[in-house]
Amino acid sequence: RPRVLSGIQPTAGSFHLGNYLGAVRNWVALQETHDAFYMVVDLHAITVPQDPAELRANTRLAAAQLLAAGLDPEHCTLFVQSHVPEHAQLAWVMNCLTGFGEASRMTQFKDKSAKQGADRTTVGLFTYPVLQVADILLYQADAVPVGEDQRQHVELTRDLAERFNGRYDKGGTATFTVPKPYIVRETAKIYDLQDPTVKMSKSASSPKGLVNLLDEPKTSAKKFRSAVTDTDTVIRFDEAAKPGVSNLLTIYATLTGTAIPALEERYEGKGYGALKTDLAEAFVEWVTPFRERTQAYLDDPETLDAVLASGADKARTVAAETLATVYERMGFVPAK
Ligand code: TYM
Repeated sequence: RPRVLSGIQPTAGSFHLGNYLGAVRNWVALQETHDAFYMVVDLHAITVPQDPAELRANTRLAAAQLLAAGLDPEHCTLFVQSHVPEHAQLAWVMNCLTGFGEASRMTQFKDKSAKQGADRTTVGLFTYPVLQVADILLYQADAVPVGEDQRQHVELTRDLAERFNGRYDKGGTATFTVPKPYIVRETAKIYDLQDPTVKMSKSASSPKGLVNLLDEPKTSAKKFRSAVTDTDTVIRFDEAAKPGVSNLLTIYATLTGTAIPALEERYEGKGYGALKTDLAEAFVEWVTPFRERTQAYLDDPETLDAVLASGADKARTVAAETLATVYERMGFVPAK
């Protein structure tokens, strides 16, 4: 089976609809066809300040949401990044292979650090993409299921894998699998409901544009009903001319498993109001059991922690083998 690996940050508490449609939903599908490794990336979270109690709660909450979304510990390996020390160890090695200029070109870093200002930006945030490189390479992943905003980090991973392979391979066996991004075009970028030209994200300028899965469903329904569209009335998928309507169609189509042309047909001659009301309803129908399942996992922390412990065991076996090869090839004296 080909292998996939991906991760999600625990920082925001609730996942938002972009996380789910752009990534987590695909993780659930891929666990059936791939050898799948998924993790909650707490080491990545601390690149910005975290309250310890909140970080601990949000890490478990993230795992609970992943299980509620359909990850099955019998079909995938679900773990917490800090439980596998090899991530930090390989990240150091990769830091030493990464050019300063190369890291400086990472657009997510440039955006985030520009917002925070130099004094509040940590060195950890700067090397964050290199930790992500280590995450992926440790598992020899063939593919990395993510949204569009992570593409550049997967490209960096490919570059560093090839660099290491080129420098350190002996006898032609590559140390690392060179991974490909796995990005589903239709849902690669879910947009803000109030500003459909920017991606939905937890740092949205208006909370009305961001749909959090764990919010009261009534609150989210209202956000769908007041989503920004345009002054036209025609319901047609056209991302350039009608970004708001197209975003709503993408969300509706994906949540209900309907093709977009079928939706265009269904809403012919009807106004935006009908589409928004129906989408709000479909979302509430989907999210209500999701919230209940999340709560059920939270109510049983022993089971949740046991799932994560067994995931960490499985992950470590793979990660330790890769790291041992890397150390040996770099010329470190083996610890007897
Ligand atoms: P994070 O936690 O910001 O987001 C988790 C996943 O959600 C996707 N996503 C979106 N997809 C579509 N539309 C949106 N509006 C949207 N917003 C977020 C992201 O692309 C991502 O797939 N650096 C990563 C976490 C990470 C990782 C890894 C991923 C750490 N190590 C190794 C893959 C492999 C991040 O911050 O994702």
